[in-house]
Amino acid sequence: MPGIRAPSNYSEEPPRHPALKINAKEPFNAEPPRQALVSSYVTPTELFYKRNHGPIPVVDDIERYSVSVVGLIEKPRELFMKDILNLPKYNVTATLQCAGNRRTAMSKTRTVKGVGWDVSALGNAIWGGAKLADVLELVGIPKCTSVTPAGGKHVEFVSVDKCKEENGGPYKASIPLIQATNPEADVLLAYEMNGETLNRDHGYPLRVVVPGVIGARSVKWLDTINIDSQVCQGFFMQKDYKMFPPSVNWDNIDWSTRRPQMDFPVQSAICSLEDVNVGRNGKIAIKGYAVSGGGRGIERVDISTDGGKTWKEASRYQKPGTQYIADDEKSDKWAWVLFEAEADVNSNTVIVAKAVDTAANVQPEKVEDVWNLRGILNTSWHRVLVQVRHSSM
Ligand code: MTE
Repeated sequence: MPGIRAPSNYSEEPPRHPALKINAKEPFNAEPPRQALVSSYVTPTELFYKRNHGPIPVVDDIERYSVSVVGLIEKPRELFMKDILNLPKYNVTATLQCAGNRRTAMSKTRTVKGVGWDVSALGNAIWGGAKLADVLELVGIPKCTSVTPAGGKHVEFVSVDKCKEENGGPYKASIPLIQATNPEADVLLAYEMNGETLNRDHGYPLRVVVPGVIGARSVKWLDTINIDSQVCQGFFMQKDYKMFPPSVNWDNIDWSTRRPQMDFPVQSAICSLEDVNVGRNGKIAIKGYAVSGGGRGIERVDISTDGGKTWKEASRYQKPGTQYIADDEKSDKWAWVLFEAEADVNSNTVIVAKAVDTAANVQPEKVEDVWNLRGILNTSWHRVLVQVRHSSM
């Protein structure tokens, strides 16, 4: 591929922040400590979780780097960075969440297959780039098109990196054409993250950002955009990132019975406390994040300090000091909401958080009810234990 290459081993990986908790080294998968997530509304790039399936590509010559737009269209085209940069630039604040977020907790009920993640396989960033709807117009597809005259209904993104799941082929995924061509869906070809050039770990020089959808569809290191009549047939769309019921195991699984997961469901987690905390009695600050998919806002975050018997509402914000209002035009619809509450804790207790989105979807109480063999979408109530040590003085 001109200007960019996929190394066959891990000798050319970029430097990474020492505070990241590494869940797998090769490919590199890491998340920040949970406390770091609630320190700021916009997650610092170096602490943003990193989810990879192969070695990080290397750009040797940015002038020669291009994206081919091909498939069921009239005007296939090679787009260079200058063509993308010539389009209007948008900044979209969006939370990217891996479908495997909170997998470790799910695997404690029953073993699941996959990289373990605590509650930090997500982050909120300001993505800068061109709208995919504008890019597709360059190849003759008008805004809000659901099917091209030649029968294209899906937009497949093919990457540069090579993954073992694809037998050494590139990572790929697709979204429906109607979402790709809808400017309101805010799908970006991003070249900036938090006001800086995208870094290698996050997809330099160009990545897709599909707001409100599981992170797996936001393909990094974009190589080709293929307009196809069918959903991408790649591993990560067909044999992974699908939600199965708890009854399905590795002996009876039939991947074709389920659709690829797209929107993520309502989620929240407490980040100011670890799973088990030992402290003095008194006031405890409960801080965390809540987010839902599909652009749905967060209507409520309920906090319990008695294991889920009684609840009170946490305050919510995006911009510090300004109360968040779900679905308000000033709110970032694709971004998480941080929440805050205070509790008086005098004896050992389980603190619980659960969020409700604007469609009144609520997080499920028990992880067992959403358990699935790949350990995705653990959105069960988030619980942390506080053990109180009474001072002897
Ligand atoms: N794109 C490519 N090319 N290769 C990958 O391994 N991982 C996907 C997605 N895009 C991946 C990819 C997954 S599963 C997630 S959750 C997000 O990228 C993670 O993005 P991040 O590493 O920028 O946080």
